[in-house]
Amino acid sequence: MSEAAPDSTEGFIARLFAPEDSDLRRIREAMEAEGLPDIALPATTARTVQLLLRLIGARKVLEVGTLAGYSALWIARALPTEGCLTTIDRDPARSELAGRLLSRAGVGDRVDLRVGDARDLLEELGPDGGWDAVFLDADKEGLPEYLTEARRLLRSGGLLLVDNALWKGKVIDPEASDEATVAIREALVIAAGDPALDATLLPVGDGLLVARRS
Ligand SMILES: C[S@@+](CC[C@H](N)C(=O)[O-])C[C@H]1O[C@@H](n2cnc3c(N)ncnc32)[C@H](O)[C@@H]1O
Repeated sequence: MSEAAPDSTEGFIARLFAPEDSDLRRIREAMEAEGLPDIALPATTARTVQLLLRLIGARKVLEVGTLAGYSALWIARALPTEGCLTTIDRDPARSELAGRLLSRAGVGDRVDLRVGDARDLLEELGPDGGWDAVFLDADKEGLPEYLTEARRLLRSGGLLLVDNALWKGKVIDPEASDEATVAIREALVIAAGDPALDATLLPVGDGLLVARRS
């Protein structure tokens, strides 16, 4: 999520439509200070996610992949004060850092941090059909499985969002056959062909799969 080059299309869009305030910058700075990988959403994608959530009036949102809370802050700001973002990460130190930064940003009361492997936690989550939106941004190998759980959790009209749908172009590279790429391709084919999902892939950032649960 390094800042887009100022002379790029991404940089132009980010400056105009996704400027970061001090709380968002603080999260990026904390990630750098803690030596965390530069894998949070680009601001343009985070802003797209935020706007889509506002468009459906989302109140109850699930995120898989918290990291330091960068996307969580964009999402929490899309929710009404009584809304709730539940966000999952298997790394307790990242979750703890996210908790501190999100509280400092004033949205701590709207965020429920869960620590554990998504494969276990998603299975236990409910109620079925009780969630307005699910945003998948953790390991790519688990995507087909996460998609099935998301489909179960989403209400009719709910929104499924998946980042890294283009995987830096690897999804269309016939030479790429690593486990993550194969899993993303599989998830895209499932989403495209599932009659319960009305889906497309937006070429924002690294590609954002957007689907409406029927
Ligand atoms: C790309 S980062 C999330 C970035 C975050 N959404 C943002 O934009 O600020 C992916 C995160 O998912 C977590 N993760 C990876 N595999 C996981 C799994 N199976 N269960 C839970 N968390 C996982 C990693 O620890 C990492 O912090």
